[in-house]
Amino acid sequence: MTPRDRDRRAAELRTVIEHAIHQYYVLHAPELSDPEYDRLFRELQDLEAKHPHLRTADSPTHRVGAEPAVSLPKHRHGVPMLSLANAFDSAELEAWEKRIARIAPEAPEAGYNLELKIDGAAVSLTYESGVLTVGATRGNGTVGEEITANVRTIPDIPLRLQGKGWPQEAEIRGEVYFPLETFRKLNEARTEAGEATFANPRNSAAGSLRQLDSKVTRSRGLRFYAFSVEPYENVAETQHQLLDKLQSWGFRVAPHRTRVPTLDDAKSQIEQLEKTLGELEFEADGVVVKVDLLSIHAELGVVGGREPRWAIARKFAPEVAVTRLLNIGINVGRTGTLNPYAELEPIEVGGVTVSNATLHNMDVIAAKDVRIGDWVEVTRAGEVIPQVLGPVREKRTGKEKTFQIPTHCPVCGTPVQHEDDEVAYICPNEKCPGRILESLAHFASSGAMDIRGLGYQRVSQLVNAGFISNPADIYELKAGELEELEGLGKKSAEQLVAAVEESKSQPLATLLFALGIRHVGAEVAKLIAKKFGSMDEITAAPPEEISEIEGVGDTIAEAVAAYFARSQNRSLIRNLAHLGLCTTEEGTEGGTLADEVYVITGTLPSLSRARATALIERAGGRLTSNVSKKTTALVVGSEPGRKLELAHKLGVETIDEAELLRRAGGNA
Ligand code: IVH
Repeated sequence: MTPRDRDRRAAELRTVIEHAIHQYYVLHAPELSDPEYDRLFRELQDLEAKHPHLRTADSPTHRVGAEPAVSLPKHRHGVPMLSLANAFDSAELEAWEKRIARIAPEAPEAGYNLELKIDGAAVSLTYESGVLTVGATRGNGTVGEEITANVRTIPDIPLRLQGKGWPQEAEIRGEVYFPLETFRKLNEARTEAGEATFANPRNSAAGSLRQLDSKVTRSRGLRFYAFSVEPYENVAETQHQLLDKLQSWGFRVAPHRTRVPTLDDAKSQIEQLEKTLGELEFEADGVVVKVDLLSIHAELGVVGGREPRWAIARKFAPEVAVTRLLNIGINVGRTGTLNPYAELEPIEVGGVTVSNATLHNMDVIAAKDVRIGDWVEVTRAGEVIPQVLGPVREKRTGKEKTFQIPTHCPVCGTPVQHEDDEVAYICPNEKCPGRILESLAHFASSGAMDIRGLGYQRVSQLVNAGFISNPADIYELKAGELEELEGLGKKSAEQLVAAVEESKSQPLATLLFALGIRHVGAEVAKLIAKKFGSMDEITAAPPEEISEIEGVGDTIAEAVAAYFARSQNRSLIRNLAHLGLCTTEEGTEGGTLADEVYVITGTLPSLSRARATALIERAGGRLTSNVSKKTTALVVGSEPGRKLELAHKLGVETIDEAELLRRAGGNA
């Protein structure tokens, strides 16, 4: 290849790869298969490695992350990054309209643009001649921190602007956020790994953005919504058009944006929006009402150098409540971690009565200085479990008691272990009844063996009655004996035994996850099952061989090897195999759904999501959450969501549960 050909090939690869990323992450309509994409990406990486001048600022190879930085340099914003005034009810919105009408009488007639207020971290992106050159946090509004390498790893932030009409030097502003599903998974993985969980999606988005190692930022799965441009003067006449422009340049803008002619329309629209909050993939804490006509913005100006007059955030009813912290309880996790939780005087938060809330770990209790007897603020963030924000110090009487970290396990009395460099306090006794209960409840739970009718309460009852003390016991339960238990009639006892029987065919990966081995989450279990193919192979695998798997490190490998090194665990596995559980990968590969991708919308008549996942995966297919051109079929249940519309638009086949069952060769 001549140098000229090479330069052209690199430029072509950059364009093709960035286009593919845009199709995938912004438009949800992938055009390249994963292997095709990987091949092109590697070709570009190779070219750049040999000829470093080809690694331009807009090269998608920056997206994998850069060498860790030593510190984050300061960045001074050309135009200050403002915040927003709040309105907590309609009256405050009306007062706002009156105020602005005094300065710009034409404002109320100009119409308003409504946008969801995304609860994330504000960032500013500088594009010079269309190329992303600087990313920065908001900081105090005047000076923030430079996080260029980090923002480049966020896949829906374009490295080069598309379309036309952007200012030569443009600053795009918007919100980096944590998709709720990603946030939940991150916290689950952290719990499994014995790490401290994140308090809420907003803080963790901000924290993930400010990492010195951009590979960490990348691994977190952040996303971006754009909402403004500086300078905007030659870009658009209205905020509504401006958002259209941002989309045409390659950005995502938050869904549900609407233009309304009057404030009355805005009020009713906000009411509608508040009802759909639960369906959003991100956390929104209000609606931003913006004067639509941009020419009025300059006229209205800024209050106190901080808040523009042309916009106001109508906040949704706060989901924070104040109640008494009656006690701090300890729950012993299945791997022995002592998890503190708050026992609260019951209170309604966001429409749900809350009497327990997580306190994460001992460090959090100390950092928040929460004391027993305190009045505390409690919140439910999105779909996340209730949590204690902190004490209301003014309400203290002096009678509150500081919490003492237990020296002995509250369930079995064994001395607690604690490593200085870890957050967790651990009960090391494998026979601790607290650990046994949690591990059996985990084993039967819907994410694991999915045994219907064997929820936490039932497991607890069976453990206390001496029926079960390890997973194999579950498979020896007899309907005749169960009938005697309180709350279990003949019919439900039979149903329970049938559900237990059915769970025997769960795939190897599910069983491996269900065992509750420290650090082995559902994803890791799949990787291990795939590599070794049978429980026998896994049991015999030395840690070095396990850690060779991509995505599995030494910590996990050692935990797995340690688990199987114990004779009682090996005999449990033998018993389970003997009882007829599936302990090989057989039948999972090349099944009837090999290489097929399904998506579900709405509620299916009989299958839960976990069961549908297991069914599809067992037949060799995959279940994903977004409809794209790659989707084989959308399975439609009752009250389908917007995925159905998208499927029609993309020409994706739609089927019902019965058809899915037929294809997967299973029964509900
Ligand atoms: S407009 C000019 N629009 O809310 C003032 N801000 O409380 C702010 N935010 O710092 C920009 N969604 O980070 C605007 N649709 C939206 C927004 C939004 C979230 C954030 C933004 C700002 C904060 C103010």
